[in-house]
Amino acid sequence: MLENLSAQPADKILTLITKFKADPRTDKVDLGVGVYKDATGNTPVMRAVKEAERRILADQSTKAYTGLAGDPAFSAVMKDLVLGDSVPNERVAAVATPGGTGAIRQALELIKLATPKATVWLSNPTWPNHPSIIRYLGMKMAEYRYFDNETRGVDFAGLMADLENVAEGDVILLHGCCHNPTGANLTYSQMEQVISLMQQKRAVPFVDIAYQGFGDGLADDAKTTRQIASSFENCLIAASCSKNFGIYRERTGILMAVAKDTDQQALAQQNLAFLNRQNYSFPPDHGARVVTTILQDPALRADWEAELEETRNGMLALRQQLADELKRLTNSDRFGFLAHHRGMFSLLGTTPEMVEKLRVDNGIYMVGDSRMNIAGLNAQTVPILAKAIVEAGI
Ligand SMILES: Cc1ncc(COP(=O)(O)O)c(C=O)c1O
Repeated sequence: MLENLSAQPADKILTLITKFKADPRTDKVDLGVGVYKDATGNTPVMRAVKEAERRILADQSTKAYTGLAGDPAFSAVMKDLVLGDSVPNERVAAVATPGGTGAIRQALELIKLATPKATVWLSNPTWPNHPSIIRYLGMKMAEYRYFDNETRGVDFAGLMADLENVAEGDVILLHGCCHNPTGANLTYSQMEQVISLMQQKRAVPFVDIAYQGFGDGLADDAKTTRQIASSFENCLIAASCSKNFGIYRERTGILMAVAKDTDQQALAQQNLAFLNRQNYSFPPDHGARVVTTILQDPALRADWEAELEETRNGMLALRQQLADELKRLTNSDRFGFLAHHRGMFSLLGTTPEMVEKLRVDNGIYMVGDSRMNIAGLNAQTVPILAKAIVEAGI
């Protein structure tokens, strides 16, 4: 049987990690993998997470199964965190999932169940796992323009022109905040125009929000998602807790389906539980319990928010430092976009050849599409990167 397998495409980021580890240079810089790192290069366990885990260890009296949708308390705190009061709770169906990836996978399976002929529209570029899962599920997909290589901002005219081709019932995947890989985001008023076009086309929005709190703050980063949730009868929201709680390996996420009324909500809820059952039965609980413990306790929540703010401000400071250094070296505002981008990533907007040159000449590792993980920098490596970018003639 196994002889019938053929090799699957290698994961580019994992390949990059292997090369980075094997590089003997001591001044090498890893801007590849998408995890937050502090100034010492460590991915810390957040204080509130440690305390929540201590409490769970002390108090947990059973590890019996939860429900197929996970613990309802987790769904409640996550609905509040992501959606606020933008949509009545009784219209939202929700299931816990293994990470944001699990939520995306379940969302796509739900779309496949409900509207198998729908095309899923993705920004170009997007997180590579989006097209990869869609292709694996044999679903139809299309791209809309997103990034302007000249301005390194959103190609809004291109985006709107491409979304004109959306058919009724098609699904449009949007990043809730901190677009991965570009770092370029739609403004509130641009999003209003996208919403009105989607309404006109009778399309269904699907929001992937994986970096809430990494851009402009917890509430501001949720604005787009809430704006969408309150504007449509139906929409899907996949949220990840991996980054903002720093619990990557615990696999904690949620899929929310906004329904038009309570009957439809019940139907969606039943289908989501069914999909969990088919794929893994019960979703992982530990990370969800940590998140619930933090969000339900005012003091823990305040500490988590404070640490998340430190993380966010640290990334903003690195962005500003890099933009300033490049301005000083080039005597131009060409790289000002780095300070305007939001989230962990920025797309430098250069060729794979240049990316390879930076790796070979300077030991600077970024993904081939020139995505840089800003959190991979520190005050010492910012000038090294800036100098290398200028010397390479980018
Ligand atoms: C855009 C986007 N969506 C979803 C995810 C899913 O993250 P996880 O499955 O680790 O929670 C990621 C992680 O890198 C991401 O960048």
